[in-house]
Amino acid sequence: MTRAMTSHIRRLPPWSEIDPLNVLNALPQVLLVVGADHRIRFVNFEAQEFFDASEVAMIGLSLTELIPPDSPIFTMIDQAQAQTCTLSDYGVSLDTPRTGHTMLTVTAAPLSDPPDAVVVTLQPISIARRIDNQLTHRNAARSITAMGAMLAHEVKNPLSGIRGAAQLLEQNAADSDRALTRLICDEADRIVALVDRMEAFSSNRPIERGPVNIHSVLEHVRRLAQSGFARNIRFVERYDPSLPPAAGHRDQLIQVFLNLVKNAAEAVPDDSGEIILSTAYQRGVSISLPGQDNRLQLPLLITVQDNGDGIPADLHDNLFDPFVTTRKNGTGLGLALVAKIIGDHGGIIGFESRPRRTLFKVSLPIFSGHEPDPAWSA
Ligand SMILES: Nc1ncnc2c1ncn2[C@@H]1O[C@H](COP(=O)(O)OP(=O)(O)O)[C@@H](O)[C@H]1O
Ligand SMILES: [Mg+2]
Repeated sequence: MTRAMTSHIRRLPPWSEIDPLNVLNALPQVLLVVGADHRIRFVNFEAQEFFDASEVAMIGLSLTELIPPDSPIFTMIDQAQAQTCTLSDYGVSLDTPRTGHTMLTVTAAPLSDPPDAVVVTLQPISIARRIDNQLTHRNAARSITAMGAMLAHEVKNPLSGIRGAAQLLEQNAADSDRALTRLICDEADRIVALVDRMEAFSSNRPIERGPVNIHSVLEHVRRLAQSGFARNIRFVERYDPSLPPAAGHRDQLIQVFLNLVKNAAEAVPDDSGEIILSTAYQRGVSISLPGQDNRLQLPLLITVQDNGDGIPADLHDNLFDPFVTTRKNGTGLGLALVAKIIGDHGGIIGFESRPRRTLFKVSLPIFSGHEPDPAWSA
């Protein structure tokens, strides 16, 4: 802290006017403190509301009475305590009689005093979305996958029949009618091309991952952008030079960042457009993968920021769904594809948006040389 800031703080009213308990009770997040034995030592108002139980009933109770003991939340608590590090997870599902079925953003942070205590916060995803717009990729990826597969089967086959019939007609058609049969063929081809693009989504094959230098991916994307659609836009790069390689598929990651940069370029003002690319190493971000015990760490944070007007509020909840677009010639497939690829990598994507500052954040795993089976593409 700089000297100027310190003196500034001293001039504020004394902190004793603020009761920390009131602060914790004002939090819209569920907050509990548990010991190593998982017994509850503190709950805020939101926690009492969430579990539909009073403070008196909750203090001293084992958290296993409220949350199923096999929940990943307990693994997080134990890890936070053992490794004295903060863990967060963006998509933990919880299904109990008291809470119903919810998806939660969970954090577990060790408390230094008493030393075995862990502060746990839970935030239902709907609220989490409203506050931070941290969307997980999973639903979007699933719907686009199903859509791609459906189109391939249900549309392409009849189309090739239509095309074949039009070609047969063409052979015996008068010149004046031939223009019409050509039209049928051309339009059928156009639909097939669209379906082919959709089909890219339906592949569920695990991706082959190698070490990918994220900076070289971003450089490649920047060069492509600046030689084409982003010719008049200023790029700022804020890279952490010690960033380890990501575990990923280079071409697919290029596609991801090209889509994000393209959206940014389409959003920025014509005369003063600016896109900031940044990378950072961020501890404590991890997710649990379906069917796997250990959690996947996602320490690589890559952000694409622009100074455009921001993402329209009514798009926020469905931004990563296919066909969501506000552009006249948009397909609404860009972000759906981004979400699918990041999902296949086991990563997560989120965004924050206000006028002059829209930010897409991608978290990815690092390459360790002995990657587990990529079961996450299931
Ligand atoms: N950086 C951004 N700033 C403002 N709006 C954005 C940004 N990125 C995406 N959007 C909004 O999200 C919509 C969906 O984007 P995308 O899936 O790439 O489809 P498309 O680019 O074809 O419209 C866009 O039409 C736009 O309204
Ligand atoms: Mg786009």
